[in-house]
Amino acid sequence: MKNKISELLDSLKQEVSSVQDKKMLSELWQKYLGKKGAVSEIKKELGKVSKEERPALGKLINELSQKAEEIYRSAEKRLEHAELERRNKEEAVDITLPAEKIPGGVLHPISITRNNMINVFAGMGFEIFEGPEIEDDDHNFTRLNVAANHPARDMQDTFYVAKDILLRTHTSPGQIRVMDSKKPPIKVLVPGSVFRSYSDATHSPRFHQMEGLVVDKNITLCDLQGMLDQFVKGIFGEDVKTRLRPSYFPFTEPSVEVDVSCFECGGKGCSLCKHTGWIEVLGGGIVHHSVLENCGIDPNEYSGLAFGIGIERIAMLKYGINNISLLFENDLRFLEQFRD
Ligand code: DAH
Repeated sequence: MKNKISELLDSLKQEVSSVQDKKMLSELWQKYLGKKGAVSEIKKELGKVSKEERPALGKLINELSQKAEEIYRSAEKRLEHAELERRNKEEAVDITLPAEKIPGGVLHPISITRNNMINVFAGMGFEIFEGPEIEDDDHNFTRLNVAANHPARDMQDTFYVAKDILLRTHTSPGQIRVMDSKKPPIKVLVPGSVFRSYSDATHSPRFHQMEGLVVDKNITLCDLQGMLDQFVKGIFGEDVKTRLRPSYFPFTEPSVEVDVSCFECGGKGCSLCKHTGWIEVLGGGIVHHSVLENCGIDPNEYSGLAFGIGIERIAMLKYGINNISLLFENDLRFLEQFRD
């Protein structure tokens, strides 16, 4: 029996070395350590030996059983380790490979233009204020000197949300909100989206404006022209000139339309300036005394200048875009061109 025990151990040692996978390992378990395995069988035989031999043999069998189990466990560990190695190899990433380039996004031309405009005005000391896109009639019209039934209301096609609540048709209500919250001196820009129920090649129902408002003592039309002159030079180049033409807005008196000399032909006349040498870029004027009064500012003490610039208009002129819808379709082939 002693021989049998040591043979069994030898054959187990031999077989275990050729175990390659989990299936072979479990077969090995069945064969040696399972209920009907060789170790269990040999235990049963212990009953047949004489009383004298039994303790010694029993001890040997226990040792055999322990050793067999150890051999099995170490084979199991060896397989687990091999499996881990295999997976590490398979899943390894070669970090020396060059990375795939992910192209970054670009700013939308409207954002680029807005940022450029803000930069120029920031250089003149303007602060930024942003008002709500949903406005009430009071801020959008009435306090800007556009009374109910005033024909000037027809100048703007309004989207109404509810009675007296509307999508702002311009950034001018920002003037009222600033003057309500701040005493002069005031020097603010109000950029933002505005909405009008009208569209064609150069008009979109949603577009963007940049309002400017300066209120202080002795503000005149000269200040307006000086600031706007600097603005157009900053956007279109040092060579352009400005020209003020009389116009009408209910919230300014006098009101002006501002033209720049054509930066395409230098003023000689071309298709961009419709052969006039001048391009209309924005509206402005001296803040109407009623508007100042509506905000509790004494027009005898203070005066103000205001202007409103269409951001899309500036972008279209600057980049030679002839249809405003290109700015809203967000076709990547168009937008990609604004990568710098
Ligand atoms: N709010 C005007 C518009 O939407 C633009 C404008 C004109 C704004 C004159 C002004 C201004 O502040 O003084 O057409």
